[in-house]
Amino acid sequence: MKTLNGKPSAGLHGTLVVPGDKSISHRGIMLGAISEGTTHLSHFLTSADCLSTLAAFQQLGVQIERDDQEVTIHGVGLHGLQASAQPLDMGNSGTTTRLISGLLAGRSFTSTLIGDASLSKRPMKRVSVPLGEMGAQIATTDGHLPMTITGSQLHSVTYQLQVASAQVKSALILAALQADQPSTFVEQLPTRDHTERMLTQFGGDITTATDGVTITVQPQPHLTGQTMTVPGDMSSAAFFMVAASLVPNSKITLKDVGLNKTRTGLLDILQRMGGKVTIDAEPTDGEPIGDLTIETADLHPITIGAAEIPAVIDELPLVALLAAKADGVSRITGAEELRVKETDRIAAIVQEFKKLGINIEELPDGFVIDGRTPWHVTDTQLGAHDDHRIGWCLVLLAYWWTNHLNWPVPTVSAFPTLNFSTT
Ligand code: S3P
Repeated sequence: MKTLNGKPSAGLHGTLVVPGDKSISHRGIMLGAISEGTTHLSHFLTSADCLSTLAAFQQLGVQIERDDQEVTIHGVGLHGLQASAQPLDMGNSGTTTRLISGLLAGRSFTSTLIGDASLSKRPMKRVSVPLGEMGAQIATTDGHLPMTITGSQLHSVTYQLQVASAQVKSALILAALQADQPSTFVEQLPTRDHTERMLTQFGGDITTATDGVTITVQPQPHLTGQTMTVPGDMSSAAFFMVAASLVPNSKITLKDVGLNKTRTGLLDILQRMGGKVTIDAEPTDGEPIGDLTIETADLHPITIGAAEIPAVIDELPLVALLAAKADGVSRITGAEELRVKETDRIAAIVQEFKKLGINIEELPDGFVIDGRTPWHVTDTQLGAHDDHRIGWCLVLLAYWWTNHLNWPVPTVSAFPTLNFSTT
């Protein structure tokens, strides 16, 4: 990624290519591994989470080469994964853990999954229980990692998802590939559909009904390796979209960003708040992509409910930041899933925003923010809560604060210092 430079008075300017999409990078490794033939991924996201997925599949006997953002996976086919002598280390990655559970549940060997302290606190029954209905044998540690998966013959199921989670849905889809008959899953709300799209691209047979929430998966497909370029991650683009919207006199362009409708909630929200966004979509066969141009705007308050949350789930800390700069009261509800991310993101946002005197009220499933109240700093040590999305949100907040008001510079602890400095 290039550096975004700009004098506060001159605004933020530039054209950026954001890193590859996290969700698609994970799935590219997984589907490549269980396909026959070679898969090439370009613009792969080289974040720790995606590297956890890559390493786990190497441990499962898949040959994978990586040269920076170029990855080559020598697929072993659906039945070619091999037991790992060592536990599979999921690191900090919930996506790796949930999705790989669905795959390993149907294999003929036993696997143990471990993770870091944060991941070990996150709920795993959301996958072990529905996978259990398909015949999986998964022993969690009181609903958490470490988790032992004893491979079993899986059977088909019709299952109504209990949480709006693409990770859970994807675990079930990957398990259903190994079942005896077609399986049907019904989502509470549509969530990101990368698994469905990519499985189709790799040769699987998966359909989503016109209701948008009923998914039927045919088992035992013959999957074939693919060559694909990972689109820019909307969740990374989001930080720059928000920075350009808030910093006066800004105009930036973000190239080749993934514009899958199940991910573009922030674009809709920003536009509804009065944000200035130009979308230049590019024609593609696969995931939609396009260039986004964002300019500074005066923002208005917004109300967001449960139906909108899945498409903006990872960007909600940034929505809070936009709301803190809007000229009225914003209300975000139906977002209780934020409480089980890398940290409790509702509690973290409320705690950290209050240090700057932002008028924010915590709800069980969201928050209410009055952007009209003048900020008043009470503590300049902001905590990232070991969560990159909280950390980056606070870096933007600190940047805005430092450059626009005469208060001490807030620092975001446990997070690298970011230099948004002038040129
Ligand atoms: C992801 C789904 C989301 C999201 C996460 C990545 C995925 O989690 O928060 O960053 O790749 O499927 P949930 O589906 O559990 O909300």
